[in-house]
Amino acid sequence: MEAACRVTVVVLGTLAVLIHLVQAQDQQGFISLDCGLPAEELSSPYDEPSTGLRFSSDAAYIQSGQTGSIQPNRESQYLKPYRRLRYFPNGSRNCYNLNVEKGSKYLVRAFFVYENYDGLNIKPKFDLYLGPNLWSTIDFQEPEEDVRRVEMLHIPTSNSLQICLVKNGTTTPLISTLEIRPVKTTIYETVSGSLNLYLRTFFNKSDTYIRYPSDRYDRVWTSYSSYFRNEWIQIFTTLQVEVNNLENYYDPPNAALTSAATPTNSNLPLMINWTSSNVDNQYYFYTHFAEIQELQTNDTREFSIVWNGEVLRRQFIPPKFSAFSLYRSSPSTCEGGKCSLQLIRTNTSTLPPLINALEVYTVIHFSQSETNENDVVSVQNIKTSYRISKNSWQGDPCVPQQLMWEGLNCRITDKSTPPRITYLNLSSSGLTGTIADYIQNLTQLETLDLSNNNLTGEVPEFLGNMKSLVFINLSRNDLSGLIPQALLRKGLLDPQGNPRLCLSDSCLPPKSKPFPVAIVASLASVAIILVVLVLAFVLKKKKRSILGALQRPPSISSAVNVTNANPPVSPIQMNKKRFTYSEVINMTNNFQRVVGEGGFGIVYHGTLNVYEQVAVKLLSQSSTQGYKQFKAEVDLLMRVHHTNLVNLVGYCKEGDKLALIYEYVPNGDLRHHLSGKGGRSIINWGIRLRIALEAALGLEYLHIGCIPAMVHRDVKTTNILLDEQFKARLADFGLSRSFPVGGESHVSTMIAGTPGYLDPQYYRTSRLTEKSDVYSFGIVLLEMITNQPVIDQSREKSHITQWVEFELISGDIRTIMDPNLQGDYDSHSVWRVLELAMSCTNPSSTKRPSMSQVVVELNECLASENSRRNMRRGRMESHSPAKVSMLIDTGMFPVAR
Ligand SMILES: *[C@@H]1O[C@H](CO)[C@@H](O)[C@H](O)[C@H]1NC(C)=O
Ligand SMILES: *[C@@H]1O[C@H](CO)[C@@H](O)[C@H](O)[C@H]1NC(C)=O
Ligand SMILES: *[C@@H]1O[C@H](CO)[C@@H](O)[C@H](O)[C@H]1NC(C)=O
Ligand SMILES: *[C@@H]1O[C@H](CO)[C@@H](O)[C@H](O)[C@H]1NC(C)=O
Ligand SMILES: *[C@@H]1O[C@H](CO)[C@@H](O)[C@H](O)[C@H]1NC(C)=O
Ligand SMILES: *[C@@H]1O[C@H](CO)[C@@H](O)[C@H](O)[C@H]1NC(C)=O
Ligand SMILES: *[C@@H]1O[C@H](CO)[C@@H](O)[C@H](O)[C@H]1NC(C)=O
Ligand SMILES: *[C@@H]1O[C@H](CO)[C@@H](O)[C@H](O)[C@H]1NC(C)=O
Ligand SMILES: *[C@@H]1O[C@H](CO)[C@@H](O)[C@H](O)[C@H]1NC(C)=O
Repeated sequence: MEAACRVTVVVLGTLAVLIHLVQAQDQQGFISLDCGLPAEELSSPYDEPSTGLRFSSDAAYIQSGQTGSIQPNRESQYLKPYRRLRYFPNGSRNCYNLNVEKGSKYLVRAFFVYENYDGLNIKPKFDLYLGPNLWSTIDFQEPEEDVRRVEMLHIPTSNSLQICLVKNGTTTPLISTLEIRPVKTTIYETVSGSLNLYLRTFFNKSDTYIRYPSDRYDRVWTSYSSYFRNEWIQIFTTLQVEVNNLENYYDPPNAALTSAATPTNSNLPLMINWTSSNVDNQYYFYTHFAEIQELQTNDTREFSIVWNGEVLRRQFIPPKFSAFSLYRSSPSTCEGGKCSLQLIRTNTSTLPPLINALEVYTVIHFSQSETNENDVVSVQNIKTSYRISKNSWQGDPCVPQQLMWEGLNCRITDKSTPPRITYLNLSSSGLTGTIADYIQNLTQLETLDLSNNNLTGEVPEFLGNMKSLVFINLSRNDLSGLIPQALLRKGLLDPQGNPRLCLSDSCLPPKSKPFPVAIVASLASVAIILVVLVLAFVLKKKKRSILGALQRPPSISSAVNVTNANPPVSPIQMNKKRFTYSEVINMTNNFQRVVGEGGFGIVYHGTLNVYEQVAVKLLSQSSTQGYKQFKAEVDLLMRVHHTNLVNLVGYCKEGDKLALIYEYVPNGDLRHHLSGKGGRSIINWGIRLRIALEAALGLEYLHIGCIPAMVHRDVKTTNILLDEQFKARLADFGLSRSFPVGGESHVSTMIAGTPGYLDPQYYRTSRLTEKSDVYSFGIVLLEMITNQPVIDQSREKSHITQWVEFELISGDIRTIMDPNLQGDYDSHSVWRVLELAMSCTNPSSTKRPSMSQVVVELNECLASENSRRNMRRGRMESHSPAKVSMLIDTGMFPVAR
């Protein structure tokens, strides 16, 4: 029913008949924002004369946007609040943040007027979101009107209501007014969901409207005038129609009830029909009736009320000069989108049916939960206290995912679970002051990076007590004082670049001594030496990140390799490699936190000393039986160091208690990320290529960089871990010489490796070689391309190599690509990687490439992918996005080859 749109123009128009100002009711709880009104203007707030509504500037509720006015020659057509506007040329999402009461019901309304304020005469189209959920698309292109209105009845789930204008395309979003009205919770109840206004009308011939103060809730009622031409005639009374508040909570305004429509042919039903383009719409409707004629004693008005063929009332008699509101308490759809409300005169009635007013709403489900309210409050407080003015920091912090705040990451499980903030990176954000207390209320935070700011004061105690926190970077600030014990115990802190920060009492000012003296002084001062060593090391390797430097240097030729005959290990850990079992217990805080489960036992989080987190793998008894060469083998493994390997830093062998102590790699494994559970960060093709290359480098190092050469034996996506920078680190290598390996290994000790990844030649030769690793690596590549399970019995071709070959018969690479990539890749580079993967998985090991050849090939693929991305970025700048997407869709889409 287009009438709903058309009549809104009238609502704003000063030409409309003004309703007499009834005695002003109070506007308790109303929020009436004149968007674009300067805050400092003397006339804010002001009372709009025809309604008495008190409008104020929107400036306090939004931090972005620019202000404008409609063309002066159009001003006379609009009431004052609708003449100004706020528009948003910058940022993809701009949000109003309004204080409301959680659990109360509100009428939420926004008006949009495009009267060529910018002189460009480009009709805008954009999306309106309520928190993380799409509410409506505001499209001025169709139909040809200058005004849009959206309105709903909604119960907020938190104390803040965020109304966001989201750019979708190139046009600039704008808004004219925002109007929030509290409404009794007992009216307009739904089974579920909120109500989006479809139509609110009263039956009067004149082109007019009713709102506050006639309507205490400021519902806007527009007259349904166009239908009176033929089908209907109007009846009208000058008498008051009584609304008994106790019986009729809907409280329709008297002015909407004093007129009514009846059918012109008094024998025919009165019909209101409309067709909706969305056949799935669920409707609620509210009809308001009152008898407004003085009836003779021999007269009756009686009719049945029929909705989509369902009889709601068989014999309804409207009460005399008193309002009766009738509605259906559950929603209904209209078959084929065709809805009809019919009022059919009964046999005994002497008068035709009538109707005074009608409201129709559609159900709108806001299915995406807002981010956990405590997290939102905390991060808002953090934003305020540090005066962070990042453009993306508006609206819900986590969702929709593509609009997530910059520097945040969240755990987003399903739509009904409130997302949680797990990652906060405010590195290099110009922060000053102390570390904000609000951080401790982000209770699920795992990573906190506040490095490279100007933070002062002490490191707060609470950081050590935050249970989920596994990574903190406070480097390059100006923090001072003692590092809290709890934090030291967890070993989370990187005190780098905070010269006034102390590890122990001994260095507290004022009498801190020069280092050479301190060395002799106490055990505690060993820590200081270590800091100095770290610093020296960092200075030597300026280009590497502080984080990288704290981990083991990547190659044997690095610094610090002076006193130790062994390959250089982390400077803080120069001597110690063998640990006692009680030290292992200490280090893992009595095996408190499990971080994974590998082939031979459970992996625990641990802390080696002040700086270093470790992963401690406690080998299960069954797997260690008869493991005679443990020490020899571990010694060998400890010599292996490469930036793409998870390096072994120590071990424990005490009786039958065996444990391996590895570097801790915080960001989970590749399988986890491919599954989509690891957040959006590594999904794209370029990053996958880089990870593949890094894993290949690690493997190449094992094959040719180690003497004797080492076979990994269990290459698979769950053994490719990702560190802070999402750099690939191969785990669990070389251990399988005496053990069976892999998830199902204890089932059959005869077969090493993981099913699906295992070199088929192994079954014949029972020997694993470097080429067996190449085979497994090929499977990993296939997984990265397709994101398919390696073995899936429900597929026609259960093994991934067979499946890929089978699917590729058509020659169209899109049939096998991971849909999460959304077509964003260069088909040439994918084909190359695919061919590489297929040659790696060649059944005959001699036909497989070496890892060095794999590295060369991946390197070239990555380079071409990077140049494609750069090119596209360049193109983005010179064309409109619409053109760009066309180019990509047609020109660059992979086709048969
Ligand atoms: C916003 O956009 C306008 C015009 O496009 C530009 O002049 C202004 O600098 C931008 N502001 C910000 C904060 O990006
Ligand atoms: C933009 O609009 C298109 C089509 O109307 C829609 O499919 C898409 O989801 C919208 N994007 C966003 C971010 O809302
Ligand atoms: C409805 O119509 C009557 C007569 O047609 C008119 O006098 C009255 O003002 C109208 N009501 C409203 C609320 O405009
Ligand atoms: C009702 O009575 C009036 C006179 O009192 C008469 O004019 C009218 O026709 C009657 N109507 C019906 C339906 O009988
Ligand atoms: C309205 O809908 C009813 C029921 O579907 C139908 O019988 C009637 O003809 C329709 N009237 C109009 C004017 O379309
Ligand atoms: C109308 O009257 C006829 C006969 O007088 C009867 O058969 C029919 O059921 C009545 N209909 C209704 C809706 O009352
Ligand atoms: C934080 O962001 C900076 C730059 O944006 C990046 O270099 C750094 O690695 C990030 N920190 C973490 C822990 O991801
Ligand atoms: C943390 O949250 C609790 C309640 O959830 C609140 O009482 C406390 O004030 C908050 N603390 C900070 C520092 O925001
Ligand atoms: C810290 O503040 C000083 C001046 O007060 C400024 O020169 C310096 O760049 C700031 N450092 C950072 C990392 O923001």
